[in-house]
Amino acid sequence: MPETENVLTEQAQPEEIPDDDTLAVREIPRRDPVDRTGEPLLSIRDVRREIDGEIILTDINFDVWPGEIFGIMGMSGSGKTTLLRLLIALDRPDEGSVIFHNEDIARLDEDDLNRVRKSMGMCFQYSALFDSMTVGDNVSFSVRNDRSMSDDEKREKVADLLAMVEMAGTEHRMPAELSGGMRKRVSIARALMDDPELVFYDEPSSGLDPVMSCNISGLIRKVSADTGATAVIVSHDVDNMLGIADRILMLHDRTTALIGTPDEMRSSDIPIIRRFVHGLASDQMTGRCSPR
Ligand SMILES: Nc1ncnc2c1ncn2[C@@H]1O[C@H](COP(=O)(O)OP(=O)(O)OP(=O)(O)O)[C@@H](O)[C@H]1O
Ligand SMILES: [Mg+2]
Repeated sequence: MPETENVLTEQAQPEEIPDDDTLAVREIPRRDPVDRTGEPLLSIRDVRREIDGEIILTDINFDVWPGEIFGIMGMSGSGKTTLLRLLIALDRPDEGSVIFHNEDIARLDEDDLNRVRKSMGMCFQYSALFDSMTVGDNVSFSVRNDRSMSDDEKREKVADLLAMVEMAGTEHRMPAELSGGMRKRVSIARALMDDPELVFYDEPSSGLDPVMSCNISGLIRKVSADTGATAVIVSHDVDNMLGIADRILMLHDRTTALIGTPDEMRSSDIPIIRRFVHGLASDQMTGRCSPR
């Protein structure tokens, strides 16, 4: 068993819970290229979204293939969250389609959407754990009324998921006892409770220091490998995104500036991509403190 798991499993008292910085900084695991010859899992076609008469997104087209880690980047206000809300069917486009498993989820009624949402997991920005519930109850929240699973099965699944995110044995802890990185891990476990095919991560490294951010990035890769789930990540964090995503979509000027692999992003001549990736921008572009 890896040393980090022992540390967490053996803790007996809340005050012994180690902070994330005692966890080893993992290298982000390498993996084989994703097979993009078959059917995509998610296809976005000619999507346009206006809010209050203002065009927020237009001509958005991309595919996400099964098993892929797909990143969405862009400066503040570029429409990342707006796009994410369309992908998880919390919002509908004014034009275009969001096709998941050959079904246009932009056109489904609420009952069908609830069925589709069961195949999707969402890991919210700032973790969004229920503070009054234990870690275990947070993780099992989506199956609390599910009679197809016994209580023992639910407990076993919670334990397995917590072990996967290196939080084994923390079922009875309260969120307030956990560090930001640990809360993030619990929220990832919670997003996986329904065995989703597609997991969305909204700003997974926000509020974390660089060491924790790197650990969470490594964890997202590990979870994707362990579960086979496809991941869509929205993030400002250029370095971590380039480290874990198979492909990245860069939003700029209401539409797609480039969709490419991390290497294609690094070597792009498109000014906005160069500014974003190489930190040549004024700092408000990236939020990064780059020397001038
Ligand atoms: N409900 C809304 N009402 C009015 N304008 C909105 C609404 N939601 C988003 N917008 C506008 O759409 C644009 C894109 O917003 P969005 O939140 O998607 O950007 P973002 O890329 O997620 O930004 P950030 O990185 O700061 O989170 C912004 O100009 C925002 O003001
Ligand atoms: Mg946003």
